[in-house]
Amino acid sequence: MSVQIQITDEKLHKLYAAMDKHKTKPGPLMPTLHDAQKIFGCVPLEIQKMIATELKESIAKINGVVTFYGQFSIVPKGEKIIGVCLGTACYVRGSQGILDAFADDLKLKVGETSEDGKFTLQATRCIGACGLAPVFTVNETVYGNVSVQKAKEIMKTIR
Ligand code: FES
Repeated sequence: MSVQIQITDEKLHKLYAAMDKHKTKPGPLMPTLHDAQKIFGCVPLEIQKMIATELKESIAKINGVVTFYGQFSIVPKGEKIIGVCLGTACYVRGSQGILDAFADDLKLKVGETSEDGKFTLQATRCIGACGLAPVFTVNETVYGNVSVQKAKEIMKTIR
């Protein structure tokens, strides 16, 4: 399943306004990419091309940055990004079962976004909250010491 990115005039206007602002300072690429990710929910190739032209950077460089850093994405992500930690501490405490339960509940595979654009399911590496293992995140919120049952209950509340 995939979500179509919407490139509206309003969003483009925001992107160009952001670039105008960032161009006045040194190193405009990273802040521009952050803004583009926020505005469009991702930075696909057609947006990268616009940024390349405006900032006079090569597409190869921009694409390299977008694919290297986890905070950027080429395909749209959902409003709520669910990340289940599969780091060692979480894994041995059953996080794979939590990931499977979410996959089942949302009918998504890892890395996919629901067609309505609400949810993206991700498996993450250790997020540094091993004392709370197993953990998962919904955007910035961390849920710790979760069982499959508890994860399902939390899921009902965020739907
Ligand atoms: S292994 Fe999951 S938070 Fe560290």
